[in-house]
Amino acid sequence: MSPAMAPGRPLALAVLGHGVVDSEQPHLFADDEAVLRGRAAFETMRIYDGRPFRLERHLKRLVSSAAVLGLPVPDAAAFSKLAAQAVSAAATSEATLRVVWTAGRESEEDGAGFALVTPLPAGLDDLRRRGIALTPLQLAIGAHARTASPWLLPGVKSTSYAVNMAAQQEARRRGSDDALFLSLEGLVLEGPTSNIWFREGRTLHTPALDLGILAGVTRDTLIGAATARGYDVAEGAYELDRLVSADEVFSSSSVREVVGVVAIDGSQIGGGAPGDAALELQQALRDAAAG
Ligand SMILES: Cc1ncc(COP(=O)(O)O)c(C=O)c1O
Repeated sequence: MSPAMAPGRPLALAVLGHGVVDSEQPHLFADDEAVLRGRAAFETMRIYDGRPFRLERHLKRLVSSAAVLGLPVPDAAAFSKLAAQAVSAAATSEATLRVVWTAGRESEEDGAGFALVTPLPAGLDDLRRRGIALTPLQLAIGAHARTASPWLLPGVKSTSYAVNMAAQQEARRRGSDDALFLSLEGLVLEGPTSNIWFREGRTLHTPALDLGILAGVTRDTLIGAATARGYDVAEGAYELDRLVSADEVFSSSSVREVVGVVAIDGSQIGGGAPGDAALELQQALRDAAAG
């Protein structure tokens, strides 16, 4: 997502132990480990019609991210209440909700948490209509070494996202909309904030979780929705040329939802427009959110 699409100012903030607070005032200590060392777990989800989509699933992932990061165990029930308070204070039907759990102050390490509601980034529907161009960028690590090395935080959603943001910047510098991470061996992994898919006939492929990628909540929703719509879904290890010659490619994430990929490294994908499965699954995702 380009900086031009950066979200606006917060609509509401609720802090554990304090409830809804003024989001224009600071609420984190300067010696919080999240600030000093990026030691925090977070989740981002969409609010549809005033309700966070798959909140429980996101909180489950927050708890597992916190465990790998060695943070105190977050209280999922307290976060659920906190999220509800923030969403209600925001008084808006469509927005982004983030829940963040930090290690806390370095002298105490007792955790700190908040739920933040912000407007959706502008321009997402236009982006979906035109599709996005991706630049593949290699990570200097083998895919399977990642899973075997928990200290590299495979599949963890931590606030140490500076590498992901730098990759997006580099992709934009090269004229694309976003990056596509490849492992050292050239296997396709994921985007800096999204999972990746491609279609060959009626089969949808997406990289397997044992490559150390994030287990996207949207990815999981789409696996169910695609299967219910008669697609075969395969999870595996793929080289980039499979995507380049696929019938279509798309990405999935909670905020951007399903977005067609129209070019990779300058090569046009499919017909150069978002494909049918991307459009169908975007609708399926909205149906799931409405149901
Ligand atoms: C690295 C990475 N992969 C995939 C995703 C998509 O996950 P979800 O569908 O849960 O938003 C994200 C979301 O931010 C991400 O950061």
